[in-house]
Amino acid sequence: MARKVTKAIFPVAGLGTRFLPATKSIPKEIMTLVDRPLIQYAIDEARAAGIKEFIFVTSRGKGALEDYFDHAPELESSLRKKGKDQLLEVLKSTNMESGAIAYIRQHKALGLGHAVWCARRLIAPNEPFAVILPDDVIAAEKPCLQQMTEAYDEIGGSMVAAMEVPPERASSYGVLDIREDMGSIVSVKGMVEKPKSNEAPSNLAVIGRYILSPKVLQNLNKIKSGAGGELQLTDAIALEIAEGRDVYGYRFRGQRFDCGSKAGFLQATVAFGLARPDLQTEFADYLRQMVSLQKAAQ
Ligand code: G1P
Repeated sequence: MARKVTKAIFPVAGLGTRFLPATKSIPKEIMTLVDRPLIQYAIDEARAAGIKEFIFVTSRGKGALEDYFDHAPELESSLRKKGKDQLLEVLKSTNMESGAIAYIRQHKALGLGHAVWCARRLIAPNEPFAVILPDDVIAAEKPCLQQMTEAYDEIGGSMVAAMEVPPERASSYGVLDIREDMGSIVSVKGMVEKPKSNEAPSNLAVIGRYILSPKVLQNLNKIKSGAGGELQLTDAIALEIAEGRDVYGYRFRGQRFDCGSKAGFLQATVAFGLARPDLQTEFADYLRQMVSLQKAAQ
């Protein structure tokens, strides 16, 4: 049986320029879907999958992220005095045990592969690890990374979350070259980062959840910069295949939102708003009104 995955790397160093001016003073990962920052969704998903240690690869200007996971003694005592137990409970999910969280700085924006490489000293040579990209928010009955760790326990290797995308969108993703399609698990014979649209080996795209062999960290030392002039995680995983080790794509059950784009973020806000029992009725009524007003105006 494969070794349990207990560490996850969260690359959160990006500047978030697509969300300027908001991201001038707040990290993109603190932007909220309903009332929880993006990063909280990622952490909850990691915890559900059995992750115990959280490694954040950050950069300048991301201090708000560190504060977010810290205890807030004044706020907590004021809530306690007022008997606001429910809110205290909500705050608990933001607290990290001392020592469970580590921050590493990525000093230059050299790509996702480089960000993961920055955390290499925190991963033991025989230790598989997860990577979660908080921009990819996945609504699922069983959290996506948990689905993957369960599959990984059975099959081992390295594993990436995968999803079919329209062929004309494939060039925005890492794309899998399929060796054998076994349904939810796909054995992979190659991976290409952001292929030209006529060169994509399939339309099965990599989504931001990975369970990786520690060898991928060594591979990151061997590869050169790839698509966009950046050090690509996809290329380091592809080297696993070239060196004869197993790599799988995992078709997760769930809906993925690209919260790195404005349209995706808005869609996620609507979906998560509608899924919230405390907002559902009022929000759905409002959306219905909006739609009928739009129709009437056409
Ligand atoms: C990153 C990865 C890419 C993956 C994508 C999923 O790209 O490099 O392989 O398909 O995340 O969201 P980015 O979106 O950061 O350009």
